[in-house]
Amino acid sequence: MIEVSQLTKRYGENLALNNVSFKVNKGEILGFLGPNGAGKTTTMKILTCFMAPTSGGARVAGHDIFEESLDVRRNIGYLPENVPLYQDLGVRDYLDYCARLRGVPKDQREERIDDVIKKARIEEVENTIIRKCSKGYRQRVGIAQALVHNPPVVILDEPTIGLDPHQIIETRKLIKSLAKDHTVVLSSHILPEVSMTCERVIILNKGEIVAVDTPDNLTQKLQQSQKVQIQVRRAGEDATTKIQDIEGVTNVGTARTDRGAVTFTVESAMDKDVREDLASLAVGSGWGLLEMKQIELSLEQIFLQLTTTEEGVNN
Ligand SMILES: Nc1ncnc2c1ncn2[C@@H]1O[C@H](COP(=O)(O)OP(=O)(O)OP(=O)(O)O)[C@@H](O)[C@H]1O
Ligand SMILES: [Mg+2]
Repeated sequence: MIEVSQLTKRYGENLALNNVSFKVNKGEILGFLGPNGAGKTTTMKILTCFMAPTSGGARVAGHDIFEESLDVRRNIGYLPENVPLYQDLGVRDYLDYCARLRGVPKDQREERIDDVIKKARIEEVENTIIRKCSKGYRQRVGIAQALVHNPPVVILDEPTIGLDPHQIIETRKLIKSLAKDHTVVLSSHILPEVSMTCERVIILNKGEIVAVDTPDNLTQKLQQSQKVQIQVRRAGEDATTKIQDIEGVTNVGTARTDRGAVTFTVESAMDKDVREDLASLAVGSGWGLLEMKQIELSLEQIFLQLTTTEEGVNN
């Protein structure tokens, strides 16, 4: 549905995107993850024909961004980083204006507007003047306008920014529900957001793609060792040595809680599950097993690993 090949964008000397290529399949939700200045907004502006790349190209819904930019725009709903709303229009009137602008036929307009008002959950403010709406509601009106012409491709630049926690949950649900009928690209630098809503993640850093995968695979790929945490009520002096003697264990960390319980963080090779041996050791030695859990690397840690360059090492 979206094909991006070797996109490069320079702002003067500043290389904002460097040779970025990727594809998005029909019905997929793809997340762009990256720190400030990574090139997320730049990529989205190019896909929505708001800006031309310095080199490279892209096709959206079968149309070329240079040759058929009008067709591309017709097929896209776009929530920009800063939503340009007409402050003095009522919400419903604004959506009507957007629907006209995007060529929604007259006899379908009411139905489309009702539908997006419901989807974006802005029934409460449909007759309120935009200027008087709270920031969260304005953001949702922005999402509604992106959907009003029922476009096959929806591009959302930081869709949950400025929303309260409850609205964030609602918006994520809405985005997920779009996947059936739409292809969605969203950007975020909030990590749980992409892992919760997206099937695939592209991690961008300084204009380059540093990883593309499912949130789960990214976690696994980068996880070279696995960690298990085990808490016991009373551990013998030789506990650490005994744990270290378990086959496959590469490292053991110890932390004492104020009530005398001890937590061991046990690292082992990726392909070696030591949980069973650990449990039998703890029970067999009468340590009083309180808890055992596997620790997974969060996307956040991976993200840090991916985007931490060796600059610090060289300097
Ligand atoms: N209009 C512009 N003129 C000059 N440089 C720009 C312009 N827009 C963006 N840049 C630069 O391009 C790079 C990528 O910016 P972009 O806005 O795409 O990042 P982003 O990933 O969306 O970041 P954020 O998370 O802050 O929104 C940055 O270095 C930025 O300073
Ligand atoms: Mg941005």
